Amino acid sequence: MAFVHIKNLLYKSIGLHSDTVGESSIDRAISQRMHVTNCSNASAYYKLLKGDKQELGELIEEVVVPETWFFRNITPFEVLRDNALNIYANTGKSEKNYPLKILSIPCSSGEEPYSIAMVLNNSGMKKGDFIIDAIDISARALKKSRRAVYGKHSFREKEMDFQDKYFEPVRSEFRLLKDIRDCVSFRQGNIITDPISPADEYYDIIFCRNLLIYFNRETQRKMLNKLSLMLKCGGLLFVGHAESGQIDKNDFTKIRIAKAFSFRKKMNDKFLTSPAKCNDQPVNKLRDIYDQLVEVTKKDIELSKKINNPKYKSTKNNKNDVSGKNIGNYFFEKIDLLINENCLLDAFRLCEKFLEEQPEDSDAYYYLGLISNLRGDSAGAEELLRKAIYLSPGHCNALALSADLAEKRGDEDSAKSLRRREQKARKRSS
Ligand SMILES: C[S@@+](CC[C@H](N)C(=O)[O-])C[C@H]1O[C@@H](n2cnc3c(N)ncnc32)[C@H](O)[C@@H]1O
Repeated sequence: MAFVHIKNLLYKSIGLHSDTVGESSIDRAISQRMHVTNCSNASAYYKLLKGDKQELGELIEEVVVPETWFFRNITPFEVLRDNALNIYANTGKSEKNYPLKILSIPCSSGEEPYSIAMVLNNSGMKKGDFIIDAIDISARALKKSRRAVYGKHSFREKEMDFQDKYFEPVRSEFRLLKDIRDCVSFRQGNIITDPISPADEYYDIIFCRNLLIYFNRETQRKMLNKLSLMLKCGGLLFVGHAESGQIDKNDFTKIRIAKAFSFRKKMNDKFLTSPAKCNDQPVNKLRDIYDQLVEVTKKDIELSKKINNPKYKSTKNNKNDVSGKNIGNYFFEKIDLLINENCLLDAFRLCEKFLEEQPEDSDAYYYLGLISNLRGDSAGAEELLRKAIYLSPGHCNALALSADLAEKRGDEDSAKSLRRREQKARKRSS
């Protein structure tokens, strides 16, 4: 019975569930600690454990699985590189997204957060352009993180370029260079019981890989909610390969890249109804403009429903004429204004509202694509632009932006074909 109590205590303290981590490994850890503490039976050890926080810490060290290595499963780091650069390129130093804020939890012995730092550094970002908070419950693992000296087991992903560039040999091991070490702040923390983030919607990117698998469904759900709250609208969440099935599709959109196991937090109603919590919130003045625009837009939509407006219909054939005074154009002028003010979330939501009324409007999809790209989601942007082009095959702006994005991805063939289509469409409309 005392064994059951001890397991319950572990479950409450760190979320570890014997069904997921395995009875035998927990039993082994308990027996090991009983031996070290000279407890002759489980009841005596349980008594000790309840009154001694330090011993609970020792038992936790014994049961956790610190397995990790540099660039584990590589693809997430490629997705990170592409998206981080996008956000960085689109915001610039004066913007509120600067510096990029990244969380690695659990970080174990540091290989994951240091891999993040190396990827960003290798992409041209400097110390100060980003911050990485790295958190783990294990004091032992954190000690190794701070020492930053690693054996060959940590380099099993075969990213030799990085090893040569960022490590110096120390006898049979390798020490990470100081510049990279300094990019990461390590701290001890328990995801179950501790406040992890300094504020809601603080992080741009969260890595939480290979921890949720040790939790039961209910704890997984709670922890995913907790992570979601820490993440900015449009931010990225990376999980382990066995954990992606638990992500709530209402809150996150999957990044459609094989083996990336990454998700983008949606800009959904939940955030619109609590704008003060959203990091894209405009300053008060802009908030006022937004409120006024919502009113104007509501009226516009009402109007467009009432009037079967032939003028509007005819302009819809000329997608690039945004200067006409029809209702659709009037609406998109407001969207332009919000984009110019960098109120991207508000612009996005207004487009979505417009689409509720005009579900086949290619301009609205084009704007959603444009905004997504400005927010650093180039994959999402391409998907939205595809919709715009599907609805309006000669949509010059959507074709042009799609071509740019295909080129950025290195897909020269698609980029060329899209540019040809754009040129033809422009000729036709001139
Ligand atoms: C398998 S490692 C994952 C490391 C890294 N994210 C990766 O994927 O390579 C799991 C880590 O979770 C940590 N851990 C377990 N329970 C935790 C909790 N409740 N809060 C924070 N970290 C925890 C362990 O100490 C261990 O270092």
